[in-house]
Amino acid sequence: MTSAAASGSATAALPTRFCGIELAHPIVNGSGTFDAIAAQRAFGPALVEQFPFAAFVSKTVTLAPREGNPPPRLWELPAGLINSIGLPNKGLAGYLTHDLPELAALPVPLIVNVMGFTRDEVAELVSAFAERDEVAALELNVSCPNVETGLIMGADPAETALLVERVRPLTDKPLIVKLTPNATDPGAVAVAAEAAGADALSLINTIRGMALDPRTHEPWLGGTTGGVSGATVRAVALAQVYDVAGRVSIPLVAMGGVQRGRDADDLLRAGATLVAVGTESFRDPLAGARVADELTRIRRPDARPGARARG
Ligand code: FUM
Repeated sequence: MTSAAASGSATAALPTRFCGIELAHPIVNGSGTFDAIAAQRAFGPALVEQFPFAAFVSKTVTLAPREGNPPPRLWELPAGLINSIGLPNKGLAGYLTHDLPELAALPVPLIVNVMGFTRDEVAELVSAFAERDEVAALELNVSCPNVETGLIMGADPAETALLVERVRPLTDKPLIVKLTPNATDPGAVAVAAEAAGADALSLINTIRGMALDPRTHEPWLGGTTGGVSGATVRAVALAQVYDVAGRVSIPLVAMGGVQRGRDADDLLRAGATLVAVGTESFRDPLAGARVADELTRIRRPDARPGARARG
């Protein structure tokens, strides 16, 4: 479906099949960490011609539009970030009208990430996207730590199973369930999601954390707490991916602190099929392409620069 050139990497030649979708290599973006529409405005058509990821995962879409959390929304850590963004988005109707046409024009498959505050809301979102040919797969965000309810549906295996059972019959598209690391036993949630009909799992989302304003000693983030990401969570992600991979047989999209091809290689060795680059894209919008190239050099040292993927 996509060529290595279309996915932005000069050398990536690691064709990968994920839930029946053919990808040029295993590197995708983490939801909400790369705004493909804004990036096109900033970088022009070159961004599309050299798209840094093998598939694009959209920012979370909710049923109603959301403003997101009050500022400040970010706190920089020595090796990462805490974010408290709060899922700002145009809502389903706004997404379908404004974002979907632009995202569907990207040269890679589109995975839409959705979140609802009730099972019915998620069902409405899944039903709406089930009809859209532009959408290759759906990712259920049951793991955002930054919403005002404080509830994380995916922290509980039984709640996760009820949600997946509810939406599974609504679409034939691959359903990816995004797990939270903020659960007593993420592996038990993974097992429940697989048994309920998930086609794949993604992990880890951010780890709940906070920072105090150094002057006032009050919480810095407008949402009080946020989600920790970046290199600082890499070892946690590796351990959770390794554990989950040993407990389920569906494919995994692994993420958490990926900055180099070597980090991606570690997550693949731990059992993942795809690897997502997240926080690193804030520093370098082309990080995905770089990681894919570095990974190719690790996995296929014989691959020549510019060589196209075979198969
Ligand atoms: O706050 C946010 O928008 C983050 C979402 C997430 O972690 O899923």
